[in-house]
Amino acid sequence: MLPGGMSRVVPATDRAVAEAASVLRGGGLVAFPTETVYGLGAWARDEDAVRKVFSAKGRPARHPLIVHLASGEAMTAWARRVPAAAERLAEAFWPGPLTLVLQRAEGVSDVVTGGQPTVALRVPRHPTALALLRAFDDGVAAPSANRFGHVSPTTADHVAAEFPRLDVLVLDGGACDVGLESTIVDLSTAHPRVLRPGGVPVSRIAAALGMPVEVVENVAEEQVPEAGGAPVPRVPGSLERHYAPRTAAWLVAPEALAEAAAARLGCAVVSRRTAPVGFRGSWRTLPEDPDGYARGLYATLRELDQAGHAGILIERVPDDERWLAVRDRLRRATATTRVPEPSGSGGRTT
Ligand code: TXA
Ligand code: MG
Repeated sequence: MLPGGMSRVVPATDRAVAEAASVLRGGGLVAFPTETVYGLGAWARDEDAVRKVFSAKGRPARHPLIVHLASGEAMTAWARRVPAAAERLAEAFWPGPLTLVLQRAEGVSDVVTGGQPTVALRVPRHPTALALLRAFDDGVAAPSANRFGHVSPTTADHVAAEFPRLDVLVLDGGACDVGLESTIVDLSTAHPRVLRPGGVPVSRIAAALGMPVEVVENVAEEQVPEAGGAPVPRVPGSLERHYAPRTAAWLVAPEALAEAAAARLGCAVVSRRTAPVGFRGSWRTLPEDPDGYARGLYATLRELDQAGHAGILIERVPDDERWLAVRDRLRRATATTRVPEPSGSGGRTT
């Protein structure tokens, strides 16, 4: 965080993209839209610039960043070896909401990889992201453009609100289309594994690979020892509480929602249905389908977070595979909080 800095939001014109590329080249920070969420980018070969990203986010140094590339061909500059499975997934889903973890090439900075022997790579499909990466013509290390653990931004204004005093150029490319982060597939070992469900459904990854893919349920428990011996989580987004609003939030079963909401009018509600007739509290309806729901979720959580509610009650979503990524984010957004007892009523919630 640079003292006296200020975020500057500009429309993502060709000129602004060219300016952004030169900001990156000069060691500065650029926030840019991707189809998933906005990223806070720095030149992946400039360690001082990448350190600024960590300090702006308040992110622990051991949590690696994704390197964004203009094309799949650029993988060879960052990965020691590009396995056939990586070629296949890149072919099928890039540009798009997929991140591949590969053995890193020599010379890839420890600052980017958090000291791990692997590197995460992604080619985003948002036209502004692609234009920037092409103009810049090298890797851009970019985490989601939010303070560590907080809800990811899906508009340029969200980014400016997260980092009002950071010296960063924010390219405004409108609201993100996917709305939650990329699917991360680890191809650095013999068996492909999904480390984070996201924009590309796991079933499509398995279909493209022609084999079943393991989804690592709780990556946070899988730890790599630090040099000093203390274990660190491999995927920081996998920390139990993450993607979380500051307001306490709870998951509530659909059949218990109306009663729970009526008993706690100070809490806002997020549901796929409309509010019951006569309901007087704050109720937000998100789309019935998983894609539409994902697109709107973070903006809704952010908006409710700012309104100073006593809490946020979020209706559980279906159990099937199509909702896997949304379920994962809702679980983390609501981790470590418990449903408050309603005052004086027997409202049943789960
Ligand atoms: O959709 C996205 O992936 C967005 C946009 C901006 O591209 N980026 C994003 O970055 O979500 P971030 O830093 O918020 O999350 C990146 C995730 C983290 O959970 C990190 O641990 C994991 O990628 N990751 C990065 N490098 C890794 C590695 N070498 N091995 C395992 N996981 C890695
Ligand atoms: Mg993030």
